[in-house]
Amino acid sequence: MRHAKPSTIYLKDYRAPDYLVDNTHLHFELKPKATLVKSRLKIRRNPAAGEGLPPLFLDGVDLILLSIAIDGALLSPEHYEKMPQGILVSVDKPEFFLDIQTCINPEDNTTLEGLYLSNGMYCTQCEAEGFRRITFYPDRPDIMSKFTTTIVAPKEYPVLLSNGNEISRGPCEGDHHYVTWEDPFSKPAYLFALVAGNLQYLEDCFITASGRKVKLQLFTEEKNINKGDHALRSLKNAMRWDEAVYGREYDLDIFMIVAVDHFNMGAMENKGLNIFNSACVLASPETATDATFQRIESIVGHEYFHNWSGNRVTCRDWFQLSLKEGFTVFRDAEFSADMNSRAVKRIEDVSLLRTNQFAEDAGPMAHPVRPDSYMEISNFYTLTVYEKGAEVVRMIHTLLGPRGFRKGSDLYFERHDGCAVTCEDFVRAMEDASQIDLVQFRRWYSQAGTPQLTVTDYFDETLGTYVLTVRQSCPPTPGQREKRPFHIPLKLGLLDKNGNELVLDGQGTTQCVLEITEAEQSFEFTELSEKPLPSLLRDFSAPVKIDYPYSIDQLLFLMSNDSDTFNRWDASQRLAFLALSDLQQAYRTGGVLQLQPELIAAYRSVLLNRDLEPALVAELLQLPSEQSIAEASVHIDAEAIVAAREFALQTLAEALFGEFRAQYTALNVRKSFSLSAKDIAERKLKNTCLLYLCATETADALALAQEQFDTANNMTDKAAALSVLINHAGDKQAIAAIEQFYQCWKEDAQVVELWLGQQSRSSRRGNLSAVEKLIQHPAFDLKNPNRVRAVIGGFAKGNFSQFHRSDGSGFEFLADQVITLDKLNPQIAAQQVIPITRWKRYTGDLARKMKIALKKIMDSGDLSGDLYEVVSKSLN
Ligand code: PHE
Ligand code: ZN
Repeated sequence: MRHAKPSTIYLKDYRAPDYLVDNTHLHFELKPKATLVKSRLKIRRNPAAGEGLPPLFLDGVDLILLSIAIDGALLSPEHYEKMPQGILVSVDKPEFFLDIQTCINPEDNTTLEGLYLSNGMYCTQCEAEGFRRITFYPDRPDIMSKFTTTIVAPKEYPVLLSNGNEISRGPCEGDHHYVTWEDPFSKPAYLFALVAGNLQYLEDCFITASGRKVKLQLFTEEKNINKGDHALRSLKNAMRWDEAVYGREYDLDIFMIVAVDHFNMGAMENKGLNIFNSACVLASPETATDATFQRIESIVGHEYFHNWSGNRVTCRDWFQLSLKEGFTVFRDAEFSADMNSRAVKRIEDVSLLRTNQFAEDAGPMAHPVRPDSYMEISNFYTLTVYEKGAEVVRMIHTLLGPRGFRKGSDLYFERHDGCAVTCEDFVRAMEDASQIDLVQFRRWYSQAGTPQLTVTDYFDETLGTYVLTVRQSCPPTPGQREKRPFHIPLKLGLLDKNGNELVLDGQGTTQCVLEITEAEQSFEFTELSEKPLPSLLRDFSAPVKIDYPYSIDQLLFLMSNDSDTFNRWDASQRLAFLALSDLQQAYRTGGVLQLQPELIAAYRSVLLNRDLEPALVAELLQLPSEQSIAEASVHIDAEAIVAAREFALQTLAEALFGEFRAQYTALNVRKSFSLSAKDIAERKLKNTCLLYLCATETADALALAQEQFDTANNMTDKAAALSVLINHAGDKQAIAAIEQFYQCWKEDAQVVELWLGQQSRSSRRGNLSAVEKLIQHPAFDLKNPNRVRAVIGGFAKGNFSQFHRSDGSGFEFLADQVITLDKLNPQIAAQQVIPITRWKRYTGDLARKMKIALKKIMDSGDLSGDLYEVVSKSLN
């Protein structure tokens, strides 16, 4: 199944399917190495696809074909043609039943697509193109069918699940039994799911707005059954929220969630039967950090919201992926914002976007939110499709306002319920419902790259007018040299010298949204008595880079006076970026490294300000990560970045030791655990203080960390302490903590993954050798994506300083791992290789060494299509 050169698929080549599948009956006889799959498809010629009876193409990968029959008559080989990726069947009538029997091997399936075994439990993953690994089928999302599924298995697998409602069950011959499920909603094959295992479940129920009772079940292995409460609670909150905010009710009588240890992604929205990566659903205070609890809430919400934005209304083809993902990420982000701190959620999301999506937009795999070509669709489950896609939906929300947007989403769901549609259909519904013109706005779907805004201003004292001039441009991306201007909502306010908001019109408005549509545009504000300070791109109203020549004093002023919380944080980041760039410059030229006293003073006043919420204080104190400094640089000088950041951290830690110490002590009070926004914020602030304190590597500070490590009553505090010990304690103390932690938690998969990840991310010099040892540790398993992400991803994506060591050893290590991984799980191999594909942005020697590592992969023999696409595009 390996092909050196997969072909490219183009959006412009989309054609409606020749045949439709009205009904799909599936019958599984589960056996680890030889599962028998019988399917009966009710097929009919698609009236919208033209004349005649062309042959019918069925996708199929890694399948053994046992038999194929039309209307009960077995087909002999001359009636169908075997192709590398499926079969082509001759057809002589417009409507017929197609019966197919195939045999598959779940036990040896390490790709984790199709049907596979995870710790003895059968599980499927069909998005995007996994169903073709189960049986021959027209595996494309615009074919929607009603599924009925019978599962036959030995009784050691008491739980047999599929989509929809259970309609019958009973014993079979031997010690087998069966269950039959029927899903009343038409769906594409990518939403099919099957689970079989010896599982326990938690049960709850939800009464919908219209009074229907829905049974909620969460299935896990027995040992994890105490870790499901948070997910069920999150699910009920999500169901309530979607009714309140979007008017969307759940539509089946039962909703199931299953936790599985081996999973390529976070979770999957299969109709009525969501399957989750264990790491994204299981949690208890003793084992999960606050970040994990919040991630679970957002992913549970995300998968649930897909029931409407994805399942009831689905995608016509995979180029439209952002139709469901961008919209659903926007929905889950708003859900999380409503459940927790809105400002913190926004800050976290924007950090992720700027650090990682901007890097994607500037790299060799850059693509529009709606890509126009791909080799492997699984390479396009990207931050661009998900997070930038969500920002595009958020901009529509900003342009239409909340009421216009809700009218638009109502119209979208009403118009397209039960259909497979396009991003264009979504935008048109928004336009039709609001009468707002989005013609130019559509370029956000077709043009890749991060737009850059440059803002200058001018104040005319005699007239009292203030003019803002905005220029926009967008750098070239692969296949797109020239970009046309985007339609950009620029939210802003103006501050007077006392920090008050200026009124912008006759109605007392103090904030407005400028609509930028030209390459250069000016906006005039009149009747002002002094030159204002602009607070630009409030709440990050568009996914752009924005440049305005702020002075340090102006940034300090915004940091303490802006009414927009997001921009207060953003001012703190801009300040830090300015300082870090000076430090890098000094480092490169052999000058003296120095942090401006104003910056230290600003951090001090943040720490001492009792009026600020702890959540905001914690955010304001974060120095930009090395990765985000790298992303903001034109040429990435890894060594200078590491040196500059390290110096800034040390200097702040030493200068403000007393303040950090006092804040830490004030917050370090013993209390029972709660997940309230306040407690989460206080833990975050406390642990930020601990990190600064321990950066000094003084015995006093490390004793605090050890004390916290020994006595913490929750994983957030415990893990934070472990992390600073690993990074800053002496060898003996660090090793003891690592060992003690492992002995305590080695039976808990999620905690072990956290433990692996922290060691991989350690910035200790020469940490690569520790990572090489971890690869040999019994807890490591190349077949388990979570372990791979923890150790290999933790190192390559989360350990900037050690991965970018000047000898290139980090890159070579990654290349070797990726080569081995590709034979087992191509999707994960292609995900992990990304850090070295951005070699062009690095200075001199590092760029060269990354490229050598890439070539080594390219020359290593047959690559999967997934890995080939990423590596070849980055070598271009
Ligand atoms: N559709 C899933 C989600 O976003 C992600 C996913 C893609 C999972 C492909 C598995 C495979 O919720
Ligand atoms: Zn999704």
